[in-house]
Amino acid sequence: MKKQMILSALDMSCVGFLAQGVWTHPADRSTELNTLDYWIEYARLLERGLFDMLFIADNIGVYDVYGGSAAASVKGGVQIPMNDPSVVIGAMAAATKHLGFGITGNLVYEPPYLFARRMSTLDHMTGGRIGWNIVTGILQSGARAMGRQALVPHDERYDIADEFMELMYKLWETSWEEGAVLVDREHGRYADPDKVHVIRHEGKYYRLEAVHPCIPSPQRTPFLLQAGSSGRGKEFAAANAECVFVNGVSKSVVAGNVADLRRRAAEVGRSPTDIKVLAGATIIVGRTEAEAREKLEEYRRYADPEAVLAHAAGGLGVDLSKYPLDEPIRYEENDANRTAMAMLTRNGEGGYTPRKIAEEMALSARNLLIVGSVEQVVDELADWMEKTGIAGFNVARLIMPDSLKDFIDLVIPALQECGLYKTEYREGTLRDKLTGNGPRLSAPHPAATIGR
Ligand SMILES: Cc1cc2nc3c(=O)[nH]c(=O)nc-3n(C[C@H](O)[C@H](O)[C@H](O)COP(=O)(O)O)c2cc1C
Repeated sequence: MKKQMILSALDMSCVGFLAQGVWTHPADRSTELNTLDYWIEYARLLERGLFDMLFIADNIGVYDVYGGSAAASVKGGVQIPMNDPSVVIGAMAAATKHLGFGITGNLVYEPPYLFARRMSTLDHMTGGRIGWNIVTGILQSGARAMGRQALVPHDERYDIADEFMELMYKLWETSWEEGAVLVDREHGRYADPDKVHVIRHEGKYYRLEAVHPCIPSPQRTPFLLQAGSSGRGKEFAAANAECVFVNGVSKSVVAGNVADLRRRAAEVGRSPTDIKVLAGATIIVGRTEAEAREKLEEYRRYADPEAVLAHAAGGLGVDLSKYPLDEPIRYEENDANRTAMAMLTRNGEGGYTPRKIAEEMALSARNLLIVGSVEQVVDELADWMEKTGIAGFNVARLIMPDSLKDFIDLVIPALQECGLYKTEYREGTLRDKLTGNGPRLSAPHPAATIGR
């Protein structure tokens, strides 16, 4: 039997997500993001396509590196406005039954106790359909927005993350024992105090003494997603993540990343297949290749080169407005996104210039862009699965919702026909659906072994 792929929809609660300027296309509806109807329809559409998850990325801060201000981003709607990703989940969960929700939470700025409570509440309200994209932030503007002088240095962000995770696991997994909740009306005992424990933690970055305020949710620990690809990022992912997002740069780079993650996972005693890797992809499909290419050209006409550069500059932490259009970007060590820096300088064939960035990254940023007929798209997705070892794709929106509708109406049935995609949802929580290993994390994952 063929390996069935996981499909996640990749988005952010903003107008200009990865395809800067495309919101100006007359068919695009992403400017309706401030209405509940937009999100409810979105969730229903994804569930119609049997998508496993809607993944909502998030940034704290604004892209203000280009030209030394946020002007280009504000003008072009480059991830500003940016709404809180968690608020719309309840409405979407009520409108669907199976769709999972991966929401982003930046642990550097979240108070552990409140964050653990929010995630447990969301896991309850969705019947166990919550995933958490663990991020530590790459924007200096985010640090300033949160009252700090500067971004925490790159590797130290992961040290903080290690300790934050330890705290989360203690709160979610050990504060309430199995069987602690009684709801015994006859004797007036809601819960058994002997089975509810105060978590005491004193570490380098955090100090806490608390009972977790929520009873155990279906998954306890939400399904754990992560996207770091630096050495330190992969070390963190190998220990904690259940699903890792990578930019779909090239098959060989992604295959190398998958192999490296599996090796690192094995080193910490986890099964290499415990980590599912999803590659980011932007897909333009037509009934024929010519139709798809026409769409590509049409969408390109709406791209906003300055906004594309403002987005890239923010991610790289480099003011691209200072570079002549045809000068290759030089590698520099900073505290922003190391993977992006390496890709656009050291690994980039011939090096990326601002012009090349504005042209090649206009519709898909650093994600894979697949354009073709239904058959071509299916073949390419299958080839990626086979050659890289990924478990599936994070499909970024382009024209909202038409490009997702195209994908669902044309590509999904073709994938199903060749056995590459499910024809119905599996029952259970997001973790059940994506791993088949039950609703909760089990040993040797640290969530299952902590405090035991
Ligand atoms: C598909 C994908 C989604 C991401 N989503 C977010 C996000 O929502 N918020 C964020 O701050 N960083 C996000 N990142 C950035 C990562 O969390 C991480 O900072 C980045 O990949 C660099 O990690 P590294 O320095 O370990 O390579 C994302 C990265 C990828 C590839």
